[in-house]
Amino acid sequence: QVDKKVDSLLSLMTLEEKVGQMNQYNGFWEVTGPAPKDGDAAKKYNHLRKGLVGSMLNVTGTENVRAVQKIAVEETRLGIPLLIGYDVIHGFKTLSPVPLAEAASWDLEAIRKSAEVAALEASAAGINWTFAPMVDISRDARWGRVMEGAGEDPYLGSQIAFARVKGFQGSDLTLPHTILATAKHFAGYGFSESGRDYNTVDVGTTTLYNDILPPFQAALEADVKTFMNSFNILNGIPATGNSFLQREILKGKWDFDGLMVSDWGSIGEMVAHGFAADGKHAAQLALNAGSDMDMESALYVEHLVALVKEGKVKESDVNDAVRRILKLKFVLGLFEDPYRYCDPTREAEITGSKAIREAVLDMAQKSIVLLKNENSLLPLPKSGKKIALIGKLATDKDSPLGSWRAMVAPNSAVSVLEGLQALGTHSIKVAQGPVIFEGSANFATEVKVNVTDKSGMEEAILAAKGAEVVVMVLGEHGFQSGEARSRTDLGLPGLQQELLEKVYAVNPNIVLVLMNGRPLTLEWADKHIPAIVEAWQLGSESGTAIARVLYGDYNPSGRLPMTFPRNVGQLPLYYNYKPTGRPNDPGQNLVFWSHYMDSPNSPLYPFGYGLSYTTFTYSNLQISQPTLQKGGSIEVQVVLKNTGKRTGKETVQLYIQDPVASISRPVRELKSFQQVELKSGESKTVTITLTEKDLGFFSPEGAWVVEPGLFKVFVGGDSGASMKVEFQYE
Ligand code: IFM
Repeated sequence: QVDKKVDSLLSLMTLEEKVGQMNQYNGFWEVTGPAPKDGDAAKKYNHLRKGLVGSMLNVTGTENVRAVQKIAVEETRLGIPLLIGYDVIHGFKTLSPVPLAEAASWDLEAIRKSAEVAALEASAAGINWTFAPMVDISRDARWGRVMEGAGEDPYLGSQIAFARVKGFQGSDLTLPHTILATAKHFAGYGFSESGRDYNTVDVGTTTLYNDILPPFQAALEADVKTFMNSFNILNGIPATGNSFLQREILKGKWDFDGLMVSDWGSIGEMVAHGFAADGKHAAQLALNAGSDMDMESALYVEHLVALVKEGKVKESDVNDAVRRILKLKFVLGLFEDPYRYCDPTREAEITGSKAIREAVLDMAQKSIVLLKNENSLLPLPKSGKKIALIGKLATDKDSPLGSWRAMVAPNSAVSVLEGLQALGTHSIKVAQGPVIFEGSANFATEVKVNVTDKSGMEEAILAAKGAEVVVMVLGEHGFQSGEARSRTDLGLPGLQQELLEKVYAVNPNIVLVLMNGRPLTLEWADKHIPAIVEAWQLGSESGTAIARVLYGDYNPSGRLPMTFPRNVGQLPLYYNYKPTGRPNDPGQNLVFWSHYMDSPNSPLYPFGYGLSYTTFTYSNLQISQPTLQKGGSIEVQVVLKNTGKRTGKETVQLYIQDPVASISRPVRELKSFQQVELKSGESKTVTITLTEKDLGFFSPEGAWVVEPGLFKVFVGGDSGASMKVEFQYE
């Protein structure tokens, strides 16, 4: 039905109009104001009026969206409505935690729900397409965009990719509260050399197929409607001009019938990559490689008509791209009602609603990871203590919003101070300590991290001296992670480490609350500080969630979705590495094994790690039979007991190892997990079913293979789990 409608519309279109649909512009002019007269804005505005724009991004709010939609619908010859795209990454006006933090919840339903409420709020403001989820696997915390993904693991990353797509798109895209999702960045962006953003990516096909692509496949299984390609080159060829990725794999092997949008200007950037001679050549290469829509390069609209006429680009490829775009407009119901996302009454009702605030708070508290809690320093009582609350981030209402913060008002998060004051009645002495950045902290400009201004140090030490408990809130400003925020030093920015050590010297009774968008190097803190809480950047309800955890109203249940290294020299560091030929210390001070002279190989905190205010034991690990037959299944059982004093939630994790295979396989790989809540003293038998799907891998040629032989199964509370059973696959 939709295909027929698309074809009949396509048959009415001129080549210019078709190419126009493939053009996406940023709406940086005052869209409700007078028509722009000169420059780029005037050009874009005129293109819009001539039907040479198929989509706009960064136009938000019902009034603005209605204004541009009206031009497209009423002033152009065919009246084709626009797709309205926006980076709805972790909320719109009300923010959830940054995606990496959400991933730390390992709670797929909460993550789905978080995307659902983000879609609800964004769609009420006119948006019908989000450029999320980012499903890039990342193993190097120097890369600032790790905050935007689900961490290092292809299995967890795939589950989360699926949940997020379902959350944004719902089950019916014609409903006005669901929006198109985008799986990005296709592909390899998270593997940029040395963690420097936009840098070269050079990976073998086993890594590509087994680690990078699975979350994209999962997004596709969730029926994601759009993909975005990527800024990076992959093995020499820019992702944007990469036919192998886009035509052969995505649109070929995977049969994706949705839309591939370029990243911002990435078609034009192929010139700088040394791949295209000029803009026209770049347009030719991008279209031929399968990029359907040009975000902000304006090269398709400028050159595609000529390229078709010169025979350098096939009109059938243009038609194919336009079909994909029009189809989505039909799927969203935009032809029936182009203003279906433009209801100001709905916008006013939904924006910042109580239900949305509750959902983001729920997500925020589930995202917190307890890293250390010596002598049960936490939870704190709610009253009666003299607390020193130290650190610039303790009162900061902006940093918890993180990067990719959409339309949220600056300085609008609940701060830690506000959270502690709202839920408890302590006497709290606040001392901010030294600054942690210089410059204006915003999305686009450089934020200097190596600041050395000591003012505030003495005041903080004094406050600590007079306190019974010190709560220190340290970490990164919200714009010290995110796009183009690569770092070579993952310590606490500025003088925060010095502050921590100086405060510790006068009062070691410290609860360290970390606010950061990526793993940091925390060896000193781990050695000395009794209680450490990883609170990431938790969004609008940050301070409330943190206070609920510190006071024990919520028992922390998060688990790390990324390995925390001891030092930057270990990076990239991840749990599912391949075995080396010399993995073990031969002893006797002999040197020829795979290690560092100045650091252990092991991480500070492994993937999957996280504590609770209660304790759990695992026992009686069993397997239902010694062999798994082709097409069959096998059950792994373990008895989990809550041996502590409080109700708590454990994330039971199952890893497998394929010790001998036609290609060297990782030392272990997550294959399943279950979250189990138990009361104090309660036990439960947890059953996990494995099938041959869990045992296979992709060959270097991209073929899915499952090889017979021995498999080891590890079960426990993190990726270091030591309880083991084995079985044979026949
Ligand atoms: O969606 C983003 C992408 O992730 C990075 N470049 C800009 C796009 C649109 O804002």
